[in-house]
Amino acid sequence: MRFRVTLGMWPFERFKSRQHMREFTKSEAHLIRAEHTIPLGSQTFSKSRTQYPVGISPLYIEKAKGCEVWDVDSNKYIDLVSSLASVTLGYGDLRVNRAVRKQLKKGVTFSLPGILEAEVAEMICHLVPSAEMVRFGKNGTDATTAAVRLARAYTGKDRIVVCGYHGWQDWYIGSTTRNKGVPSVTAELTEVFKYNDLESLKKILSERKDVACVVMEPMNVNLPNQGFLEGVRELTKAHGVILIFDETITGFRFSEGGAQELFNVIPDLSTFGKGIANGFPLSAVTGRRDIMMEMEEIFFSGTFGGELLSLAAAKSVLELHTNHEIVPRLRRIGNDLQERVNLAISQTHTKQLLSLSGDPTWMFLNWNGTEDYPPEFLRTYFMQEMFQQGVLLLGTHNVTLAHSQKHLNKIEEIYLATLESISKGIAQNNLKSKIRVTPLKPLFKVR
Ligand SMILES: Cc1ncc(COP(=O)(O)O)c(C=O)c1O
Repeated sequence: MRFRVTLGMWPFERFKSRQHMREFTKSEAHLIRAEHTIPLGSQTFSKSRTQYPVGISPLYIEKAKGCEVWDVDSNKYIDLVSSLASVTLGYGDLRVNRAVRKQLKKGVTFSLPGILEAEVAEMICHLVPSAEMVRFGKNGTDATTAAVRLARAYTGKDRIVVCGYHGWQDWYIGSTTRNKGVPSVTAELTEVFKYNDLESLKKILSERKDVACVVMEPMNVNLPNQGFLEGVRELTKAHGVILIFDETITGFRFSEGGAQELFNVIPDLSTFGKGIANGFPLSAVTGRRDIMMEMEEIFFSGTFGGELLSLAAAKSVLELHTNHEIVPRLRRIGNDLQERVNLAISQTHTKQLLSLSGDPTWMFLNWNGTEDYPPEFLRTYFMQEMFQQGVLLLGTHNVTLAHSQKHLNKIEEIYLATLESISKGIAQNNLKSKIRVTPLKPLFKVR
């Protein structure tokens, strides 16, 4: 079916006259330089040219403050990526910076652990319902990998069942289509089940008797169906399988105690990263004392696991979560943005093309194609127009406390202009002449 929009009045004409075209010349020159010494020109897939089409995108950022970032061409953006959801308070939060500077004067890493390790562990145990003991890592991948090793050690079983995204390690990435370099013997030990499909988990657990753990994001694109998370909890318990909630994103974003607190379903182990230290590199694995004590028998150890600047940042973030309304404010900002974008969608008659889903603090943009324009085409054109007008975003709204009403007004304005342009372009069937790059290719799907 061909998608039709009603042409008529276009009330947002005033947003369309641009002062000047943003250019990305320095970004593009730097990409050429970086690619001589850095494959992909980036350490992070989601920050690379695979996600930001060269020609319409900023590629490198110079500085950030609050929710605003400046690319190397000095273009300014309101950032809705928020460093892949690792920033919750806003970039350069003064309270966190003060704590980090104070620690810097004393030192970054020592030859023995610092006392901050236990202080932050205690704060996590206070906030997170399932947390009885804690160990730290640097990336989310460290924490999920440690949790899986703990589960294997505790149960004496090898198989893993996953749902969602869990990092770059063999045991997980081997289950995706981007599995080059992963030994097949490792990949064969991982099964995938579908979110909100309890039957798919039931089938795996009834057929496989060697499952050590179920690792899952408690929520991502969609809300859990009534009884789904509770069902996962019951099933894993009945089969003697360790339940691990990967709260790398949902932790300290969905609620102070993570999605487990929000949905009141308590896993055996859980992992945190991203927002725990407002952009400083820290992750944590936590959970039941009897399982965590296996840490003394397995090997999970790193030179920088107790690095003190990130722990100082985490202490400051967790103090804020304990003493102030951080998540309720994040949620209000996310709700406000969601309402504004939904209004823009309805005013521009683009409901058939774009919908929002997920939690207001981490909202997903879902694109539907038309006969002439596949979803990836529309997503790329949308990014082109949003970047050009000063909003940096990928496929989600990752709100921070720094997104003020002023920023939301601006984002709403830019959404309206962009969606209007899409709607009009489809009605006039001339979007192909307006897009300036080859549309993104669909990526390996993890959610
Ligand atoms: C749910 C989830 N788990 C694990 C990871 C891996 O974290 P990291 O990239 O810090 O290793 C991510 C990263 O995006 C994530 O979103």
